[in-house]
Amino acid sequence: MTRATWRTRIGFILAAVGSAVGLGNVWRFPWLTAENGGAAFLVLYLALIVAVGVPGLIGELVIGRRSGRNPVGAFRELGGDRFRFLGAIALLAAAVVLSFYSVVGGWILRYTLSSATGAYFAAPGEYFAAIDYGLGAVAFHAAFLFATVAVVHLGVDRGIEASTTLMVPGIVVLLGGLAVWVATLPGAAEGYAFYLSLDVGYLRENFLDVLVAAAGQALFTLSVGAGAMLTYASYLGEDRSLAADGTLIAVLNTAIGVLAGLVVFPLLFSLGVSPGQGGPGALFVSLAGAFGDLPYGRIVGVVFFGVVLLAALSSAISILEVLVSYLIDEHGRSRLQATLGAGGLLLVTGSVAAASPAVFGLLADTIANLVLTAGLIGFLLFDGWVLGRLAREEFERGAGRLARLVSLPWYVAIAVALPVFLAFTFVTGVGSVLGIPISSPIAVAVAVVGVAAVAAVFARCSPSE
Ligand code: PFF
Repeated sequence: MTRATWRTRIGFILAAVGSAVGLGNVWRFPWLTAENGGAAFLVLYLALIVAVGVPGLIGELVIGRRSGRNPVGAFRELGGDRFRFLGAIALLAAAVVLSFYSVVGGWILRYTLSSATGAYFAAPGEYFAAIDYGLGAVAFHAAFLFATVAVVHLGVDRGIEASTTLMVPGIVVLLGGLAVWVATLPGAAEGYAFYLSLDVGYLRENFLDVLVAAAGQALFTLSVGAGAMLTYASYLGEDRSLAADGTLIAVLNTAIGVLAGLVVFPLLFSLGVSPGQGGPGALFVSLAGAFGDLPYGRIVGVVFFGVVLLAALSSAISILEVLVSYLIDEHGRSRLQATLGAGGLLLVTGSVAAASPAVFGLLADTIANLVLTAGLIGFLLFDGWVLGRLAREEFERGAGRLARLVSLPWYVAIAVALPVFLAFTFVTGVGSVLGIPISSPIAVAVAVVGVAAVAAVFARCSPSE
């Protein structure tokens, strides 16, 4: 059976942007920004996208295109059987992320529908508290997952490419329209001020926490670490510059993310709601409350949650495709069987998250960051120390002069600097999950020694060409 490919380059770019733009931009980003001091977080996050996210994303694309396989097959193909575990980390990360992602997708679906009737207008807080976890949440999670399965089962070009080619421009147009409209609301200026003004004092006092949160978010928003971008790149037939594509994907994602912030923050402040209290639900409660007080609030609600729904769906598709491509390539399943199998698994794991706030919080807040970070560290060390010269060759394949100039700095970054940095955030993150504050010098030492040890082992494994 010949493997699927994208029909056009722009189709691939839009699918990848669809993967990147999602709840991470509209829900997780404002929530984390509010929790981590507003613009202080924004600045670090943007810096980390450039310094870590983009080179990391390109590192994933390199493995995907070079192998033309799903994550498990990719590492086996390029490094031999002993590297299959890296693919297994990707599968685990994909399952973890989609398990909570589709619960939030279910909330969004429900809010899109109930905006039309104004069901939550009278008491937004009570409404959210009544639907967030439990049987209803399980049902809407299942419905969201079903929509994801329906698209993915149609295939790479007829399902994923066709749908994201419509969804991504739709998201941009609707979000742009909303941004223009919220600018006319009284009090919007305060929202911009919170979002765009930098509190250096806050940043200085909480630097480490903000750094770890921002690093996790930079990976999450670019969909790296779970093999989604790897899988998408495996469907690339032509030799185009991965550096150019990766940069374009990141630029578009960041622009849409910033645009989402320009909608969300003014909207909150114009109604006197301050973001940052109440964790993951805050956005629903406060935004939903805002819609109730607005003229044409129902229409605004449907449009807003409709946009978020599209964004969530185009990301969920990419995560499901990781598992589906694995079942197709490695287990010889048909696409339909693979989609139903992966969908069935997620129906169960997501239902646990939909039933339990504790499980949900753990997955969404910390475990997701940790698995994505672990995944990306593994991928980059593989690029740097197993593929080595071949990774650079793949980076330069189809690339222009500029990309060839940055190929060496990119290589040094992904082989050494990024793994050490990511390992540092990983160790610090594990410390805070376990409630043991790990001092920075110790975290740095653990990161350096750990990365050096893994790199030394990897360097002794030659690639299977
Ligand atoms: N990038 C997506 C978002 O920001 O919502 C989330 C995501 C998609 C994370 C795919 C990981 C992934 F593999």
